[in-house]
Amino acid sequence: MCGIVAYIGRRPAVPLVVDGLRRLEYRGYDSAGLAIPDRGDKMAVHKTAGRVDDLAARLPKRLTATTAIGHTRWATHGVPSDVNAHPHLDTAGRVAVVHNGIVENAAELRARLTAEGVVFASDTDTEVLAHLIAREFAAGERGLADAVRITLGHIAGTYGIAVLDATRPDEIVVARNGSPLLLGVGEREVLAASDLSALVTHTRRVVHLQDGDLAVLRAGGYEVHRDGAPASRVPEVVDIEPMAYELGPHPHWMHKEIHEQPAAVERALTGRIDDRFATAHLGGLGLSPRETREIRRVVILGCGSAYLAGRLGAQLVEEIARIPASAEPAAEFRYRNPVIEPDTLYVAVSQSGETYDTLSAVQEVQRKGGRVVGVVGMVGSAIARECGSGIYLHAGPEVSVTSTKTYTATAVAFALLALHLGRVRDLSPADGRRLIAGLRALPGQIAEILASEKQIREVAARWASYPGMLYVGRVRGAVVASEGALKLKEVAYLHAEAYPASELKHGPLALISPDRPVVAVIPDDELRDKNLGTVAEVKARDGRVLAVGHDPELKAAADEVLVVPRNEPELDPVLLGIPLQLLAYHAAVTLGHDVDRPRNLAKSVTVE
Ligand code: G6P
Repeated sequence: MCGIVAYIGRRPAVPLVVDGLRRLEYRGYDSAGLAIPDRGDKMAVHKTAGRVDDLAARLPKRLTATTAIGHTRWATHGVPSDVNAHPHLDTAGRVAVVHNGIVENAAELRARLTAEGVVFASDTDTEVLAHLIAREFAAGERGLADAVRITLGHIAGTYGIAVLDATRPDEIVVARNGSPLLLGVGEREVLAASDLSALVTHTRRVVHLQDGDLAVLRAGGYEVHRDGAPASRVPEVVDIEPMAYELGPHPHWMHKEIHEQPAAVERALTGRIDDRFATAHLGGLGLSPRETREIRRVVILGCGSAYLAGRLGAQLVEEIARIPASAEPAAEFRYRNPVIEPDTLYVAVSQSGETYDTLSAVQEVQRKGGRVVGVVGMVGSAIARECGSGIYLHAGPEVSVTSTKTYTATAVAFALLALHLGRVRDLSPADGRRLIAGLRALPGQIAEILASEKQIREVAARWASYPGMLYVGRVRGAVVASEGALKLKEVAYLHAEAYPASELKHGPLALISPDRPVVAVIPDDELRDKNLGTVAEVKARDGRVLAVGHDPELKAAADEVLVVPRNEPELDPVLLGIPLQLLAYHAAVTLGHDVDRPRNLAKSVTVE
């Protein structure tokens, strides 16, 4: 949520920061800007409502500064506009601040500063930071790091910030509390960014700053302070190919990531199958066999697609391991004063590992003495660190705002967890082997579905003209329907509601008409005939049906059929979701939407 990039070194900073902002644009994209120290102890700021490309088009040629901070915004306080774009300055134009997060006491601080005669240029919460830092300079001889530290002492809320003082172009101060911030340490240059994607083309040596850290960056290195005292933060070498952040021949990141799913599933499985005992080996979980046996319930927490992947995970755990399992949106959980049980395993799901609501739910569980593990995409992220144990997805970075390969890799991680929990209990070796064979078949079967993209594109092109759709499924198909509907809402902006197929007749059937078609998820399981009954009910009311299932003969009942290969019944939902990703993607393309940057959304939501 909002992207930050800062550079200090020997190279021209502006092209580097602009390139970094482009890579971070998926975090927020309603406005963009950057600041460089100018002659005369003033800051030069370039910023605009719109995309990073709009900013780049406005920049003067030949900006030679070797220090810069930049920002791409997802609006919280104040509409997207040129003045509300970051960086923000103090009145004298000496201090520039970019900020990710929310200053919760901004209104109070603003009132106090206004009473002191400060005139605000923007409606943002961030601008108070620039004025407060300037006030610290006015109060006495102090360096930028001290001025920032004292200022942050007055701030309630969350932040990742980068600050420049025009009189000291040889340093940048950054700090984090609740919003991600990483340092990239190169040869006589240091970068800071809110996300790895802006760093890995320059260096793999990365420092994950922790909440409460403040760092001073200089071309020759960095120092980290906590509570005013030096803290040691040694860079780790991250294992990410810079190519992972290149679009290649794909028209959109979402398309690329949908097509990366066979490889992502392969990686999620690598090294985790134990053929000898027909189980999954999950070394990062940190649970002994005895502790594993003592788990009486599994509760899964996440937001958006991570929550829905958790619902599929709960279904897998319950069906395979026969342990009661449920999933809940992380923010709902945290605010309802949940009962935390000692024999429940809580699982936090997050691609970014930075989602504020999910992190807060983790802290709520821990505060009440519960055991929580992570199913996380980003290694070393806040949720991964807070949980301390769990399962990394190894799906590679996901750039498109809407989640596809991460959703699928998460489902596979839960299938592994379910297998592991099941084999510690009563799942037979034969069933273990059956599921392992099913898991190993997934990458090839996903590739098979992707090979039928042309047919899905044609259906999507026809169906994109409907104003909305209902998605229905029973039991194993229910989560598939929910995730399919979410994809359609997110990228095609079509109203899509998911319902258990059994509930259709209890209300939503009233919506059925020729222009509100139904997507019905119909696996070849014991509920197939009941699902066909639902299709007949829709057809009898002049509704149109797209069936997604295993049997080509569904054609006799539905108007359109997308056929997917059969796996094991428990794992079928993983495959049934794939055509629905492509359906949403091609509907969005047909409608001319910005697929990777859907309106109003951001990938990593680090605010409440
Ligand atoms: C946002 C994104 C979703 C994502 C959710 C959770 O809402 O738009 O695609 O599923 O955040 O993100 P996380 O990083 O925690 O998985």
